[in-house]
Amino acid sequence: MKNPFILSPSLLSSDFSRLGKELTALEEAGLGWAHIDVMDGCFVPNITLGPPIIKSLRNVSSLFFDVHLMVDKPERYLEDFRDAGADLICVHAEATVHLERAVAEVARLGAKPAVALNPATPLSAVEYLLPQLYMVLIMTVNPGFGGQSFIPFCLQKVRDLSNMIAGHGLTTLIQVDGGVTPENAADLVEAGADVLVSGSAFFKHPPYAERMKTFYAAARRKPE
Ligand code: DX5
Ligand code: ZN
Repeated sequence: MKNPFILSPSLLSSDFSRLGKELTALEEAGLGWAHIDVMDGCFVPNITLGPPIIKSLRNVSSLFFDVHLMVDKPERYLEDFRDAGADLICVHAEATVHLERAVAEVARLGAKPAVALNPATPLSAVEYLLPQLYMVLIMTVNPGFGGQSFIPFCLQKVRDLSNMIAGHGLTTLIQVDGGVTPENAADLVEAGADVLVSGSAFFKHPPYAERMKTFYAAARRKPE
C-alpha cells in the first residue's frame, strides 16, 4: 500500500455561498489540496464556475488548487485558468482531439499537467503521454454530478494503471474521483490511488478535521 495519500475535497459539495470560508476551513483542518470542478454545460450537462471565481478564491487561499476541467476543447481556456491561480490543470482525454498539445501547454504555463479518463475510456488513451503527466485522473463515476455511486470496474482500472506506470518506471500520481468514501478508500489506495477526491462524503460530514481523520484511518485499514 502506498502511503500517505492525498485527500482532495471537491468544492462541488461545499457551500457555494461561502466558498472562501470553506477553503479557509479546509486549510485550518489540515488539508493541502482543494479539488475545483469546472463544468461547461457541454462536455457535461452541468455548469459550475470559471476563472474569475477561482481567481478570487486564490486571493484568500494557499491550498493547492487541483482544477478538473470538464470542458469541451479545454485548450481554449488553459491560460485563463493558469492566470486565475490553478496549480494543477486536468483536461479530459475525451474533450480534445489534440491531447498532447493541451498537456504540453499546461506544462509550458507552469501548472502541473493531468489528464482525466471517463470510466469507459481505455488506459491506452494516456499511455504514451505518461512521461509528460504529473497525474492521471481515473473517473470512478460518469462526470457531471456529485453524489453518484462508485462504478466497481474502476477499481481494476486503477490497478492496471498503477502497473502501467510502474512498468514504465514512472511516478505519475493516480487520482480517483466520484463516489469515493471512507468505505472504499482502503481498496482504492491498495489498488494504487495516490489522490482521493471526495465531494459529498466529505462536505456532508463536518467537522472537516474529523472527517479527514476518518478518511485517513479508513485508508490505512488493511483490506481483508
Ligand atoms: C463529478 C466531479 C466530482 C464530484 C465528486 O463529475 O468531478 O469531483 O464532485 O463528488 P462525489 O464525491 O460526491 O461523488
Ligand atoms: Zn472532479
